[in-house]
Amino acid sequence: MTTPQHPEDFLRFMRMRSATEDGIFWVDDTRLGVFEPEAARHVSATNWRRFVMHDRLIDMVRRRHSPEVRWSQVRSAWLTQLHTLATAEHHGSLIDRMERIIDERLGEDVDLVMLTQDVALRSMLPVALTGLTSGEAELVRRDLEMKLLRLISPDPGGTWHHLRFIVVQLRSGLVVRRVLRQRAHGKRRREPDLADPFVDMLPELGMDRALDVVTAVLTAIGGPPGTAAASLLYEFVRNPEWQHRLTEELSAVDPVEFRTAPTHAAPVTHRFVKEVLRLWSPPLLLVRRNHFPFDFGKTRLEPGDWYLLSPHLIHRDERVWKQPDVFDPDRFLPGAPHGPADRTCYVPFGWAPKKCVGANIGTVQLMGLCQLLCTRYRLTVDHPENLSMALRFAPVPEDFRGRLALR
Ligand code: HEM
Repeated sequence: MTTPQHPEDFLRFMRMRSATEDGIFWVDDTRLGVFEPEAARHVSATNWRRFVMHDRLIDMVRRRHSPEVRWSQVRSAWLTQLHTLATAEHHGSLIDRMERIIDERLGEDVDLVMLTQDVALRSMLPVALTGLTSGEAELVRRDLEMKLLRLISPDPGGTWHHLRFIVVQLRSGLVVRRVLRQRAHGKRRREPDLADPFVDMLPELGMDRALDVVTAVLTAIGGPPGTAAASLLYEFVRNPEWQHRLTEELSAVDPVEFRTAPTHAAPVTHRFVKEVLRLWSPPLLLVRRNHFPFDFGKTRLEPGDWYLLSPHLIHRDERVWKQPDVFDPDRFLPGAPHGPADRTCYVPFGWAPKKCVGANIGTVQLMGLCQLLCTRYRLTVDHPENLSMALRFAPVPEDFRGRLALR
């Protein structure tokens, strides 16, 4: 059987094969699809348990030996910092930033995918890296936007575009290096962002690995949050009865309570966000290199092989979800018969120990966007009856144009 090349056909083909081959099969000569929930959990847990950041290439070129740094140290630095940012004040600032960015575009006829991307990225950027000059922030934002466009656009651009992309990427990397160096030397203020813990770790990490770590966070906020926000708008438009339920809840919610603990204060909105993330999990596929032998009975995965994981395919698997293609946030009500059978079936943020560190703040951002849509803005979409979703690196609504006005 030939594997289709087009991302959309590729996913449809994988979904079909996954259903007939129990979620584990060779997608082509080099990659094993691991789409069975428990196997995906196990392979991820085993591969990443003791993952260490090396600097081998740079060490070789520079004839030096950098100390090993465990990835779990990096993650725990991020999680500690995110914990300090999980307050009503910081959540409020995130929502206020989204509001300011949308307000700048009120009344304009816009591509709603690009707008939500811009809103998600620019409002989240200060969480990852703040205290930048406007020029520095613009460079970092442009770098992330170009990275995303290469992934979601049907036309990735020619050689000229590629060269510009490399230049912007290098200049954005120089900004990150400068910020870290200046913070370390006291020439720039320390900030409560996700880059800051690595200023103290610079002696053991070195600048190259510190840049990799900060780039990992920046790339993480440049992709999934924006595409998830576009999918949220898409389901919002397609489901007027849910717009109504959300508006009822969010108009009545206590603002301080919502900013302190939104999932508790607005459970209907939380279910809506969870269901958007179930149906339209970005990224659609994760490609990983395997380091341990696994025996799946009918086939084996050997060290050095590549494997694919996909929250999307697990969320659309009829063996683990009832009517998986139906949008119904109430499946997340406790005890719902069409809800997740267990924790391995719902993985929009991936798998431990590589699971998304931004899961909580990402959820707050999406819930905050719901609040703005229900209480501050009126969204009008061109031809809502023709809306459809394209499957690229992530799900992307097609021809999604419209405008936002104040209520
Ligand atoms: C709705 C929004 C988001 C979604 C759907 C999402 C999804 C994901 C997924 C699927 C992974 C891969 C996990 C794996 O490999 O098993 C990931 C990793 C990651 N995400 Fe998110 N993410 C979101 C928002 C964020 C935000 C807001 C941040 C930062 C503030 C963030 C930071 C990260 C980081 C740093 C990683 C890499 C973790 C590691 O390598 O250990 N994400 N995310």
